[in-house]
Amino acid sequence: MDLADIGVTGLATMGRNLARNLARHGYAVAVHNRSHGRTQQLVKEFGGEGTFVPSEDLAGFVASLKRPRRVIIMVKAGAGTDAVIDQLAELMEPGDMIVDGGNAHFQDTRRREAALREKGLHFVGTGISGGEEGALHGPSIMPGGSKESWEALGPILQDIAAQVDGVPCSVHVGPDGAGHFVKMVHNGIEYSDMQLIAESYDLLRQALGASPAELAEVFREWNRGELDSYLIEITAEVLDQVDAETGKPFVDVVVDQAEQKGTGRWTVQSALDLGVPVTGIAEATFARALSGHPEQRAAAASLAGPKLSGVGGRELIEDVRQALYASKIVAYAQGFDQMAAASKEYGWDLDLGAMATIWRGGCIIRAKFLDRIREAYDANPQLPTLLADPTFAAALEAAQESWRRVVTTAVQTGVPTPGFSSALAYYDALRRDRLPAALVQGLRDFFGAHTYQRVDKEGAFHTDWSGDRTESPA
Ligand code: 6PG
Repeated sequence: MDLADIGVTGLATMGRNLARNLARHGYAVAVHNRSHGRTQQLVKEFGGEGTFVPSEDLAGFVASLKRPRRVIIMVKAGAGTDAVIDQLAELMEPGDMIVDGGNAHFQDTRRREAALREKGLHFVGTGISGGEEGALHGPSIMPGGSKESWEALGPILQDIAAQVDGVPCSVHVGPDGAGHFVKMVHNGIEYSDMQLIAESYDLLRQALGASPAELAEVFREWNRGELDSYLIEITAEVLDQVDAETGKPFVDVVVDQAEQKGTGRWTVQSALDLGVPVTGIAEATFARALSGHPEQRAAAASLAGPKLSGVGGRELIEDVRQALYASKIVAYAQGFDQMAAASKEYGWDLDLGAMATIWRGGCIIRAKFLDRIREAYDANPQLPTLLADPTFAAALEAAQESWRRVVTTAVQTGVPTPGFSSALAYYDALRRDRLPAALVQGLRDFFGAHTYQRVDKEGAFHTDWSGDRTESPA
């Protein structure tokens, strides 16, 4: 029997489509699923697309692979992943590779990588973005792990990934948990992108009284300019959708409580640990949390708010477009800061320009805009913040008056725009010469003798607040 080039275990939609993608690219793919019916189904339905080598149990699956063995696990992230890894590790030999393609937490990936390294096995935690369609037609693939594993896996991953201008949307991200970390930040940015889109829609609908179908046209128009992206494109599709049963716009029959599987929350948790203000992602995550409290919303529904009528003219549309673009720049700048901070903290040596490159296609946040980010890091790999890149600085300058008008209109009309508002506050805070953090330091010293530094000399100081208020070196 011919041995397979690579194996996929876990054949739910993502795993099945990834296996098909590999087979369509000419790789012989070993396939396995806990319930064998799914494996049989795959071979029956799609066997004609390439070479599949089905196995009923893991031992047979591992035995059907060429050495060094390459196995991709596509199971739901969590305890189940550890169980599959343990079983595979028992059956594999030093030099073999286990790839986890689920949305695992990067700390779990670091732990698993270290444990398997002890056994001589390579563990590759990899982000895969693009949903079902991406898995089949070309996702963005973000693998971590050792250099050796990338040598053996990279050509295959680059082959099946999305391609933009002939460049594959996959690179070796960095060691251990780097791939899953980058995927986590991708998802955090995805939350932020969607929140900003939702705020744009909400404000325009409330202030202009525009219908979802009219707004679909607005998003379609925006998608022809600098906002050109997958999420803007599908926003037009969703807004245009009419519910067959009631004849109402689809968005009006969907319960307005946004769910999450957790990657947005993880991004914010990690950002808190790293001390990176990812306010855009945090606001998006909290906006979902707020939406999910119907009892509080019902209790607050009768609270006073401003009258909404006749607040905006058609010029608000262009203002909102500018606010969306500016806020998006802020959200991405923050996400890239978080990757830079993690790179330092965990010793990953992340190439931020390369991350922008592999997000240009295949993934959920794919956008023209990522070309600008790549160019910014090409021009200056040490860029302290994307906001300082000349292209983005100019875009922010061009947008800021509109951005301020949008936030003002939102406040006046009582339409919540936490994404726009916090992004503008971040922009204004970052560009400030002096921040009121100096007062915070004074207060900390007052009640807790926490000390402060001075602008004019070295060292730490304390003022004797309860005594004669003289200052002394701490
Ligand atoms: C992707 C998506 C994918 C998934 C999100 C959804 O890149 O293909 O990000 O990973 O759809 O995790 O996340 P929530 O359920 O948390 O919104």
